[in-house]
Amino acid sequence: MLEAISPTENLAKEAIQTVVSDKTKSKVLERRTFAIISHPDSGKTTLTEKLLLYGGAINEAGAVRSRASQRKTQSDFMEMEKQRGISISSTVLTFDYSGFQINLLDTPGHADFGEDTYRTLSAADNALMLVDAGKGLEAQTRKLFEVCRLRGLPIYTFVNKMDRPAKGPVELVDEIEREMGLEVVPMVWPIGDGEDFKGVYDREARVVHLFERQGRKEKAAALDALPLSDPGLPKLLGSTLFAQLEEDVELLDALMPSLDVAKVMRGEQTPMFFGSAMSNFGVALFLNKFLAISEPPAPRETTAGSIGPEHPEFTGFVFKLQANLNPKHRDRVAYVRICSGKFEKGMKVSHSRLRGRQVNLAQASMLFGQDRETIEEAYPGDVVGLNNPGLFAIGDSIYTGPKTVRFPGIPSFSPEVFAYIFNPSAGKYKSFKKGIDELLEEGAVQLLYERNDEGKTSPILAAVGPLQLEVVSYRMKEEYGVETRLEPLTFTAARWSEATWEDIDRADAEGLIFGAMKCKDRWGRPVLLFRNDWKINQVVDEAPYLKLIPWAFAP
Ligand code: G4P
Repeated sequence: MLEAISPTENLAKEAIQTVVSDKTKSKVLERRTFAIISHPDSGKTTLTEKLLLYGGAINEAGAVRSRASQRKTQSDFMEMEKQRGISISSTVLTFDYSGFQINLLDTPGHADFGEDTYRTLSAADNALMLVDAGKGLEAQTRKLFEVCRLRGLPIYTFVNKMDRPAKGPVELVDEIEREMGLEVVPMVWPIGDGEDFKGVYDREARVVHLFERQGRKEKAAALDALPLSDPGLPKLLGSTLFAQLEEDVELLDALMPSLDVAKVMRGEQTPMFFGSAMSNFGVALFLNKFLAISEPPAPRETTAGSIGPEHPEFTGFVFKLQANLNPKHRDRVAYVRICSGKFEKGMKVSHSRLRGRQVNLAQASMLFGQDRETIEEAYPGDVVGLNNPGLFAIGDSIYTGPKTVRFPGIPSFSPEVFAYIFNPSAGKYKSFKKGIDELLEEGAVQLLYERNDEGKTSPILAAVGPLQLEVVSYRMKEEYGVETRLEPLTFTAARWSEATWEDIDRADAEGLIFGAMKCKDRWGRPVLLFRNDWKINQVVDEAPYLKLIPWAFAP
């Protein structure tokens, strides 16, 4: 992929133009950008913590998860997250390991924050699907998997909590193959589970790694590896488990497909691992093999054709915004995924939505939870946080060079919960408006207005889950000092209509959209709120000219 690089000729002409140097090439090859998808409670926080331990980004386990019962990670920096023990906002955790720079895009686990996760996945090159061994595939994992599939992301599977009673490994392989249509290639195979969990067999190296129960803080369980032929193994594993392992190994070799990296890259095959994040077992094995197989920053489709990291100009897109990352500074940050070229602090880029307007990227930082480090340069695969004085929106592309580059927009999830938001105090109108505008810009929720309203009634917040609405109320109070009141609406789905208001009024006059609420989005586009899917299906059948769609891109 990187061979096609040809140095551009007008190198000397433009001071800031980035040309793919050998340094950039090697920086690209050593980068791995991935996100973890999982159902809440599968152990994502625990696994993240262990990965960071390997990277030396933290020194002890307690640095990420507090030892107390409350959950708190470096990435859970918001007060409400700490109080509720949920992870709300995605951040990027960057660490070095074994000659690689790993960018772990942290995604919120709670189902209500699927939208944030969805956007974050647009910035990832690989996804790690974390599965609880006792539960198998769960709802949120399935949903996020669909997003990965849409994006064609390579997927790696880590079956966690093998130290607890687990489903059989064959059953887990079957479940993933059947439900997700993925070819599963076990890279390691578990020996027992729960109290009898003895370790894993590394199929490539043909050795057994023995499991020892470890305290939570240890840096890593020592990798004690014995070949299958080791005479001491039957005793160590017990004769039953040893016999089972011998049988399993024979069957695996005979029946399982072999690893085909091209298929993994196309998202057709998933390498599978087993372990126990809590005991730090199997994590290093996974990490080493993942780094060997996984995709370095990959090319992406744009309006200017496919752009890979070897493209000589700088390109990137905004996938997430966040206000008040540090409440003391009241700042706003736009997270940009770099797709090609070298990022340099202070560089000038063109802003595609603003028709090529030149923007100076003076303030850039890499983030580690709440700690932010100012950076001077960054490479494809990296995520940088840019100071955002209102210039950037989700999906914006930035680039250098004469040719306009636009990455595909990131659509919003279709909202499923709706509530009027009231500002009971007229004196706080300004703060109310500022807070709503900034939180909207972040894409935390969407805002709709009743049609023909013209500012008379309160706006309607539209979100994927109720918790998102609560977060808005909470942040309005904490960050903008405004006590708001939410009044829930009983609608459960929104559909944008690509028809004109005349068509919509005609359908209304004919009684075809009876019961639906006619709204406008922020850009004045028609949106209909429905109480159930049955009604939507009826409208689709009886008034197809309304052209209902579940979501719309920002214009
Ligand atoms: P999440 O971010 O995916 O929601 O999961 P998290 O890491 O918070 O883990 C959820 C629970 O599962 C935690 O227990 C955690 O300790 C436990 N856990 C994670 N990995 C393993 C594992 O490999 N084996 C076992 N046995 N447990 C695991 P908790 O009781 O909710 O919290 P805590 O009191 O342990 O901190």
